[in-house]
Amino acid sequence: MRVLLSLTAVALCVAGASAGALPAFLKACSASDAKLDQCIEKVIEVGGPKFTDGIPALGIAPLDPLQLGTVIVNNPALKLTFQDTVVTGLKGFRLNSYKMNGAKNKATIDFTANVTLKANYDIDGQVLILPIRGNGPAKIKITNLNIVIKYDFDTRDGHWVITNYKDNYKMDRAQFKFSNLFGGNKELAETTHRFTNENWEIIMQEIAPPAIKGIIKSCVEVVNSFFDKVPAAELLLP
Ligand SMILES: *[C@@H]1O[C@H](CO)[C@@H](O)[C@H](O)[C@H]1NC(C)=O
Repeated sequence: MRVLLSLTAVALCVAGASAGALPAFLKACSASDAKLDQCIEKVIEVGGPKFTDGIPALGIAPLDPLQLGTVIVNNPALKLTFQDTVVTGLKGFRLNSYKMNGAKNKATIDFTANVTLKANYDIDGQVLILPIRGNGPAKIKITNLNIVIKYDFDTRDGHWVITNYKDNYKMDRAQFKFSNLFGGNKELAETTHRFTNENWEIIMQEIAPPAIKGIIKSCVEVVNSFFDKVPAAELLLP
């Protein structure tokens, strides 16, 4: 009797975990759809913003706000650390395109978002010839951050998994606000701010690799944890 009960419990658990896991705000496309990419684009456009809130019932973490933790820029001329980094704005993303090659298990997603990074910074070094030093709250606003992720996926035990990816990114502009530069020396801080914002590309060349790679890695991880919870057959109807 006890064996039977626990077997039933296991069966119910398995059924519960594998059937109907897809949240209502996401609609599955059909693999036979002649315009499959367009169908998936629609799903991402419609359901994506809600997806960035996270799905507590499935244990899926939010992408907006995204907790990025510590970001370290380690350049001989510029030591910069961001702590407790939080990224907002992915929810307002614009999908440029989604393309899937099911036969080759490859897909590409291209999207743009205005994002803001907030963190506690600690900076010490030089930007071009200008010394920069300070610590305190920092804010970086990135206008039209365009991210392209090309990924390979596999199906394991009925679930998709992103096995590998390559990314590209570019942006229109970045603006910085470093509070408390030079221990609060207003004149020095103002000059430095103007200089860093005029030369945002040089500074972003240092900050972007660790920060934006971190954002992309988090996106891939969240999507993988979603794939892990929802069977492929529920995402793409046979
Ligand atoms: C980002 O903001 C700019 C200017 O504020 C706006 O023109 C652009 O459409 C926004 N981009 C996205 C992806 O929302």
